[in-house]
Amino acid sequence: MAVSCFCLQIQLYLSCLSAIMFLFLAVRCEAFDPLDPNGNITIKWDIMSWTTDGYIALVTLINYQSYRHIEAPGWTLGWHWAKNEVIWEMSGAQAAMQGDCSKFEGPIPHCCKRDPVIVDLLPDAPYNLQMANCCKGGVLTSFAQDHQNSIASFQVTVGLSGNSNTTVHLPRNYTLGLPGPGYTCDPAKAVSSSLFPTPDGRRHTQALMTWNVTCKYSQFLAQRAPSCCVSFSSFYNDTIIPCQTCACNCKYNITQPTEKVRPMSCVDPKDALAVSTRYVTGYSTGLTSQTPEVYCTQDMCPVKVHWHVKANYYNYWRAKITIINRSLLKNFTQWNLEIQHPNLNNLTTAFSFLYKGVSSYNLINDTGMFWGIKFYNDMLLTAGPNGYVQSEVLFKKDPTMFSFKQGWAFPHRVYFNGDDCVLPPPDAYPWMPNKGTARNAMSAFMTAAVAIAYIANML
Ligand SMILES: *[C@@H]1O[C@H](CO)[C@@H](O)[C@H](O)[C@H]1NC(C)=O
Ligand SMILES: *[C@@H]1O[C@H](CO)[C@@H](O)[C@H](O)[C@H]1NC(C)=O
Ligand SMILES: *[C@@H]1O[C@H](CO)[C@@H](O)[C@H](O)[C@H]1NC(C)=O
Ligand SMILES: *[C@@H]1O[C@H](CO)[C@@H](O)[C@H](O)[C@H]1NC(C)=O
Ligand SMILES: *[C@@H]1O[C@H](CO)[C@@H](O)[C@H](O)[C@H]1NC(C)=O
Ligand SMILES: *[C@@H]1O[C@H](CO)[C@@H](O)[C@H](O)[C@H]1NC(C)=O
Ligand SMILES: *[C@@H]1O[C@H](CO)[C@@H](O)[C@H](O)[C@H]1NC(C)=O
Ligand SMILES: *[C@@H]1O[C@H](CO)[C@@H](O)[C@H](O)[C@H]1NC(C)=O
Ligand SMILES: *[C@@H]1O[C@H](CO)[C@@H](O)[C@H](O)[C@H]1NC(C)=O
Ligand SMILES: *[C@@H]1O[C@H](CO)[C@@H](O)[C@H](O)[C@H]1NC(C)=O
Repeated sequence: MAVSCFCLQIQLYLSCLSAIMFLFLAVRCEAFDPLDPNGNITIKWDIMSWTTDGYIALVTLINYQSYRHIEAPGWTLGWHWAKNEVIWEMSGAQAAMQGDCSKFEGPIPHCCKRDPVIVDLLPDAPYNLQMANCCKGGVLTSFAQDHQNSIASFQVTVGLSGNSNTTVHLPRNYTLGLPGPGYTCDPAKAVSSSLFPTPDGRRHTQALMTWNVTCKYSQFLAQRAPSCCVSFSSFYNDTIIPCQTCACNCKYNITQPTEKVRPMSCVDPKDALAVSTRYVTGYSTGLTSQTPEVYCTQDMCPVKVHWHVKANYYNYWRAKITIINRSLLKNFTQWNLEIQHPNLNNLTTAFSFLYKGVSSYNLINDTGMFWGIKFYNDMLLTAGPNGYVQSEVLFKKDPTMFSFKQGWAFPHRVYFNGDDCVLPPPDAYPWMPNKGTARNAMSAFMTAAVAIAYIANML
């Protein structure tokens, strides 16, 4: 981890304010996933039987990450054979490339590559190639959201390999893609053999040999620009704090082209509906046109999370969370949102989202995960009038902490699908009016004003 952050640090080191930035970055790099420090994907190989020239193994992928899921087009799993092994047969998944099997006479192996890459089957795969936990098009849900669907497995018949526990060579250099980089895998480690309970639970069979591989995600390695930003508003101040300018990308400025910024094409929301007048602003790389990726905004983020402090009662306070999709390319299925706020241990109700506390490093439970209700709002649709989901949340006040001062009512960290969202700078948080308590009429007026501005801000 420290190594991968190094080059970025060097870059910033050259800039002024280097000392401060250096510190800031070092902290950010260390804590890739502060909410889920043990999150990993474990790949387990269980040899179920020996064959004349090898073995049959059951391979299981378990997504132990609390909130990071693997979306379509799904996982790919690669490795290097230690010797000249081949894959005779597979079920539950398939090798993406067969490779050169020309030296085989008679039966032709399923895959002869020295570095096979395995992909899941689609749900409509032939029945005889299916098995338990397979054929989900490579989609794995996060463990906290739906742990039954966070497992994938396939069976592989390996030939030209050892066929005893002392002669088998463990495959090396495992890679997990989804697709693209992001995960690094440790070397395979032989572990004590897995036990498999019989259906009545009164007997356990045992694998002949088992090894584990652990893969971990790093947003840094994935080299992804932030994909999400946060904006704030409150009933007590009519200022809306927008997402930071250029939070995810900068709107391309034709008079000031910057080579460094990855081009991102956008379309004005006003024009998006009238397809004929769609225009594209983009980086001219010789391409005549690019498919617009997002609605044009100052922050260029495909996803915006808006946190509105809605009401203050005697014993409770209420906020409203809205997730807005400005991506034109993608429906976010089974989205999830993680929020860190000191009062989340006293969350009473999330009205339209499902909720679960996430324990992190902190002993206090200040982090919660929200996700959609199946068939109701579990899919965040593409940009447009329906491209948002929202819920109100009700907190019980903890008198020792509660305050509207200094932005206390706003989250400290927000993650969408496990990726860090860019928050407004702390000094921009809406202030509580200093003098006296807001009178009801005044606050009603402000609520109305904010509501109007809020709707205008929806896109
Ligand atoms: C992977 O995650 C599981 C479940 O949280 C945990 O028990 C295990 O220790 C983790 N493995 C590593 C190497 O962190
Ligand atoms: C291989 O299996 C034998 C018995 O079947 C066992 O005694 C031995 O410890 C195993 N060796 C390894 C490396 O697992
Ligand atoms: C695994 O990767 C290392 C470093 O990338 C390389 O030196 C080694 O040859 C690879 N092993 C196999 C079996 O391909
Ligand atoms: C190997 O992986 C399995 C499945 O995740 C897990 O139950 C087991 O504890 C792991 N073994 C070790 C030694 O990490
Ligand atoms: C583009 O850059 C020019 C020159 O710096 C600036 O005057 C102009 O306001 C910018 N336009 C936009 C839309 O940011
Ligand atoms: C998103 O979902 C909607 C509704 O299911 C569908 O009509 C649309 O084609 C989807 N868009 C993409 C890009 O998958
Ligand atoms: C946003 O909308 C696009 C287009 O329908 C869709 O493909 C994408 O998954 C949506 N994003 C989220 C977060 O729902
Ligand atoms: C935090 O949550 C865990 C379970 O998620 C629970 O056991 C523990 O009591 C909670 N701690 C506090 C301080 O609420
Ligand atoms: C809020 O949660 C904390 C820790 O879980 C607890 O000590 C406190 O009493 C709670 N406050 C209220 C008002 O329920
Ligand atoms: C609302 O908050 C902003 C800072 O975000 C502050 O400049 C402004 O004075 C506040 N308005 C009132 C009425 O306090």
